[in-house]
This record gives sequence, C-alpha cells and structure tokens, in this order.
Amino acid sequence: FQRQALDGRHVLITAGPTQENIDPVRYITNHSSGKMGFALAEAAAEAGAKVTLVSGPVHLPTPDRVNRIDVVSARDMLAACEAAMPCDLLIAAAAVADYRPEVVAPHKMKKDPTTGEGLLLQLVRNPDILATLAGRPDRPFSVGFAAETENLLDYASRKLRDKNLDLIVANDVANPTIGFNSEENAITIIDREQRQTSFAQTSKGKIARQLVAFIADRLNQA
Ligand code: C5P
Repeated sequence: FQRQALDGRHVLITAGPTQENIDPVRYITNHSSGKMGFALAEAAAEAGAKVTLVSGPVHLPTPDRVNRIDVVSARDMLAACEAAMPCDLLIAAAAVADYRPEVVAPHKMKKDPTTGEGLLLQLVRNPDILATLAGRPDRPFSVGFAAETENLLDYASRKLRDKNLDLIVANDVANPTIGFNSEENAITIIDREQRQTSFAQTSKGKIARQLVAFIADRLNQA
C-alpha cells in the first residue's frame, strides 16, 4: 500500500444550495449545482480521507466511499455539520442562503386583493456555517470559497480574515464558463500570508484533485 495524502483524516465538505421555505410550496434558493463540492468529496475520498458530505438539494449521485447527509435549509446544514464534528479539514463549498423568511407561512399564501400589487417578505440573516465551525475551540483546518462578480481577490482576502480561515478559494462567477452551474472552474487560492496560487480553467473534477492535493500539503505541514 502507498500512503495517501489524506489517510486517517476526517474531511467535512458542504455542497449545493440551501432552500429557505416561504410557505409549504415556495422557497428561496440560488443557482448552485453542487458539482464543485461533490467533485471535492470524490477527490478527498480518493486521497484516503473519511469524507462527510453535507449537501443541500442537488441532482447528483453520491461519490464512492462518501458519507452523504442531505439537508434543506441553512440551519439544517449547520446542525448536520455540528453533528459531524470533529473533523480535521472543513471545505465549505455550499452556496448557503444568506437570508431566510422570518416566518414560514403554515399554509400556501394567497394573493391578497386588499394590499394592491406588492408583497413584502421580511427576511432574517442565516447563521454562517463556515465562520461558526472555524470559530470553535476544536476548529478544523478551514477552507472557504469566495464566489464574486467583482473585486474578486479583495473580497476573498477580506473573507479569509473575517471568517478566520486557513485558505480561501476565489472564483469569478461573472464568467459564465466557470463557477455556478458550469462544468469547469478556474481558481485562485489565497492563504493567511496573502500568498496566491492559481489553477487554470479546466473541469471541476481536475480542479478538485488539484485543490485537494494543495490543501492536503498545507494540512500536513500545519
Ligand atoms: O460570505 P460569503 O457567503 O460570500 O462566503 C462564502 C463562503 O462561506 C463559502 O465557503 C460558503 O460555503 C460559506 N458560507 C457558509 N455559511 C453561510 C454563508 C457562507 O458556510 N451562511
């Protein structure tokens, strides 16, 4: 047997969007496909890790030797991640909804003829799963994603600091051939010393293997 980069490590990965209910038939969500997170789970399992994949609603098969936990809302995702702790490495690839409706209507909401054309939906902030886990005393080596449409590297390094991460992976979702719901990705990794490492555009599967190898190197140095 050859030793592998993530042998004996427990890796927790979040993937996909979250859905935040408005009423029993409606919800708020986003365009995340889950492809990047699932590719990372597959690559981490191939590298010898024990992988827990906490996924929002997606249409993807579970990679081999990956323990998948399906969730719907951001709060479900946080609870599932907390239940899966401790872990050595957290990779937060999920596109978590920042807000949820303050109240979920118990019945399907009806058009109200008395209020004119509009409807006001009061939203409240969701918990930040990555920042919560990276802030625990037993914090794992923590890797986040920054999907941005402008000021990519600026916003990414701010997130690295604000969420107390070890690495942040920046990707430019303004480019339709990479990022959200596409088959390919191109990334720049930023560390706490502001050093940058870029991987050129290729399939999400290849990017995932490059990224897992890079993270494993840093984790094994830490
Ligand atoms: O702040 P922003 O949503 O851009 O940060 C993105 C990173 O934080 C991603 O790694 C994402 O998975 C994670 N995140 C999270 N919980 C949230 C919001 C973002 O884990 N509520």
